[in-house]
Amino acid sequence: MSDPHADAQLSKTEILARKNAEALLGGGQARIDAQHKKGKLTARERIDLLFDEGSFEEIGKFVMHRSKDFGLDKEYYLGDGVVTGYGTVNGRLVYAFSQDFTVFGGSLSETHAEKIVKIMDLAMKNGAPVIGLNDSGGARIQEGVVSLGGYADIFYKNTLASGVVPQLSAIMGPCAGGAVYSPAITDFILMVEDTSYMFVTGPNVVKTVTHENVTSEELGGASTHSAKSGVTHFSCANEVACITHLKQLLSYMPQNCEETAPMVPYEAGQDESRAALDTIIPDNPNQPYDIREVIDGIIDAGSFLEVHQNFAENIVVGFARLGGRSIGIVGNQPAVLAGVLDINASTKAARFVRFCDSFNIPLLVLEDVPGFLPGTDQEWRGIITNGAKLLYAFCEATVPRITVITRKAYGGAYDVMNSKHIGADMNYAWPTAEIAVMGAKGAAEIIFKREIAQAEDPEAKLQEKVDEYQQKFATPYRAAHRGFVDEVILPSQTRQKLIRAFKMLENKVDTLPRKKHGNIPL
Ligand code: HXC
Repeated sequence: MSDPHADAQLSKTEILARKNAEALLGGGQARIDAQHKKGKLTARERIDLLFDEGSFEEIGKFVMHRSKDFGLDKEYYLGDGVVTGYGTVNGRLVYAFSQDFTVFGGSLSETHAEKIVKIMDLAMKNGAPVIGLNDSGGARIQEGVVSLGGYADIFYKNTLASGVVPQLSAIMGPCAGGAVYSPAITDFILMVEDTSYMFVTGPNVVKTVTHENVTSEELGGASTHSAKSGVTHFSCANEVACITHLKQLLSYMPQNCEETAPMVPYEAGQDESRAALDTIIPDNPNQPYDIREVIDGIIDAGSFLEVHQNFAENIVVGFARLGGRSIGIVGNQPAVLAGVLDINASTKAARFVRFCDSFNIPLLVLEDVPGFLPGTDQEWRGIITNGAKLLYAFCEATVPRITVITRKAYGGAYDVMNSKHIGADMNYAWPTAEIAVMGAKGAAEIIFKREIAQAEDPEAKLQEKVDEYQQKFATPYRAAHRGFVDEVILPSQTRQKLIRAFKMLENKVDTLPRKKHGNIPL
C-alpha cells in the first residue's frame, strides 16, 4: 500500500483515483506479469470476460486485512486478494467473486472470506446465481484460525444457498486443502486444463504418507477430476473456454428456485420431423448405438450441453432445449458398457436429477438399460446404496418428468429410470422397446432350466424358449396394456410428442409429504 503521508499532498478526488488505481493493480505489476507468464489471466481480466461489458459493480474494493503477525502489519493490498461484486451475464443478474493470486497467492484471510460471504448473502436475498472464480493457495497461513473460520463461514453459506440459487465454481489455479470443499458443495465445477488443480492433500504429503510419486496434474488436474473422480463436471481447454462454458451453463438455469429457466424464442422449422430416428435402433438388440444421436434427433438443433462428459460414460446427462424450453436429459448410453447402471453412473445421474429438480428444470429420460452391473467390485463398493441414490432422486423429483424407452428396460433398472410407478408424468416407448425382468436368454435359461436340460436338443429348446419369451415380453405392449407406458410412438414422432407433453406439464404442481428433509442414502 502506498504511503499515507503522500496522500496529504493530493485532493480528495485524487486520493480516490489513487486508491482505485492501486486496487486495480492487486499484488503489483511484477506479479501480474508472473501470472500471465503461467498462461493465466488475472482476477479482473476474468471478471471482464464473464460479465456483460461495463455491467460489473465491485463491492469492497478497498477492504484490507486486519492481521499483524508475521509481517502482515507492513503488507496490505486493497481488496485483500479477491474481487467481489455483481453485474449481468447475458442481461441477467449474477454475483461473483474472483480470487487474485497476485495478492498473497489468492490466499483466504478473514476479510477475504467476509467479502465472499457478503455477496453470497446478497445473492440469496435477491435470488441470483453466484459464480466463484477460484485461484488460491488456501488458508492465509499467517492468519491461522481466523482464516479457517473464514472458510467455514463460506462452507456454511454454500450449504444454505444450495437449492436456493445456482452456485458455479470455476477452478483456474490452485485449490487445495479444505478450500476444495466450497466448490464441492456448489452445483457445478469447471476446471482449466494444465493450469488448475484440486486436492485435499498435495503431492508432498501424498509422498510422505503413502510413498506414491505423483504430480499435481496427475493427482488433481482437470483430466483426472473429469474422467477418474468425477469431481469436476467440465474440463476446459483454457480460461476463455471455461468462462464461455460458465455463461452457457447459466443460460439453461433459472435465477433461483422460485423461477423457471428462460425460454429461448423458438420457431418451428424444417427440422420438426426427425425421420432419421426411425432407423437408429439396430436390428440386433445387442448392437450398440450412440444415445447422443437420439438426443440430437429430438432436441432443438445444437442445444445440447453435456455435463460430466468424460465420467461414467455409460450414462449421458446434460441440458438441452425443446421448443425453446430448457430441459435436463438423462440417457443410458448403449455405446458404453451396454448402458448398464453402475455406481458412478448412478451417482452422476442422481446429482444431475437433483439439480434439475431444485431449479425447476423438467427432466427427460431416455432409457435403454440392461440392468445394474454385476460383480464383487460393485457389490463391495456399495452399488446397493449408490443405485438407491438415483432411485431416490427420481422418486422425490416434482418437476415435469417424461421417459422414452428406446430399447431395453430390464429389471430393477426399469423401475429406477423414471418409471411411471415412481412418479413420471408421461412414459413413451418406441416399438423397439423391450420391457422385462431380464433379457430373453437369461430368462429362458432360468424358468425353463429343467425343460431345456431334458430336451433331446437342448440348444434348439433354449432357442425356442428364448423366442417365446422374446415375443411375449420383449415388446412395449405388455406395459402399454397396463398403462405403465402411455403411448407407443414412432421415433420420428418423439420430438413433437415431447414438445406437446412438456407444454401440457408446464404448470405442474406436485408436493412431497411435509418433512424436515428426506434422508437420501449417501
Ligand atoms: C499466505 C501464500 C499462501 C498462503 C501462497 N502464498 N500460498 N501466502 N498463505 N496459503 C504466497 C506466497 O508466499 C507467495 O508470496 C505468493 O503467494 C505466490 O506463491 P508461490 O509459492 O510463489 O507461487 P507458486 O510457486 O505458483 O505456488 C503456489 C502454491 C504454493 C502451490 C499455492 O504457494 C503453496 O503451496 N502455498 C501453500 C499452500 C497451502 O499449504 N495452503 C494451506 C492449505 S490448508 P510472494 O510474496 O512471494 O508473492 C488450507 C486449509 C483450509 O487451506 C481449511 C478449510 C477447512
